[in-house]
Amino acid sequence: MRIDIVTVLPELLRSPFEASILKRAIEKGLVEVHLHNLRDYASNRYKQVDDYAFGGGAGMVLMPGPLDRCLQALTSEREYDEVIYMTPDGHPLKQAMANGLSLKRNLLILCGHYKGIDQRIRDLWVTREISIGDYVLSGGELAAAVLCDAVIRLLPGVLNDETSALTDTFQDNLLAPPVYTRPREFKGLKVPEVLLGGDFNKIEDWREEQAYRRTMERRPDLLNLPDGSKME
Ligand code: ADE
Repeated sequence: MRIDIVTVLPELLRSPFEASILKRAIEKGLVEVHLHNLRDYASNRYKQVDDYAFGGGAGMVLMPGPLDRCLQALTSEREYDEVIYMTPDGHPLKQAMANGLSLKRNLLILCGHYKGIDQRIRDLWVTREISIGDYVLSGGELAAAVLCDAVIRLLPGVLNDETSALTDTFQDNLLAPPVYTRPREFKGLKVPEVLLGGDFNKIEDWREEQAYRRTMERRPDLLNLPDGSKME
């Protein structure tokens, strides 16, 4: 897989790919991540990429010109399966969406800033708009990092048995059950007996019940909404 990310703050997007699982995925050649500074596509000598919003109101808007030139340059080199725009008014990111995107070859991600990007770039280029939650970040960079992490860890060969994605929260529309490691007793709290017994059927039953209980308590919406399992 190849991911290209267009941003006005490339420095904000370097460290997520320089540690742990994402770093290893890149080193193993399972994914390439390329950062593109939008200012490199500015046309005036001030490297201007944003301007006031027509109609007034607070906040700047990323201009269509630099974005369009950047998109022309990138798409002339390869075909992208998706041009994604990270925005709080996008479709909410769900595990099913990450699963679907992990099957693609080339992804291009646009990070917004200030009030966002000119609507015409969304109309002309963007194939998918994604929000990582109902809150507003200062820009799309951290949201893009979240999306990349959620997608890259699903690529075959990125996780090993110990970190397998198959038992993740959300993979079966349930939250994950509690987990314990050594010691068996910590500050008076004991590891549940069933996990120490070695009866794998009993352990599976216990985990399922705990996952269900946790989901009921915290996210009952996951239990009865079928659209959690859809790509959109
Ligand atoms: N940009 C700013 N806030 C965002 C959010 N919640 N999701 C995706 N992109 C964003």
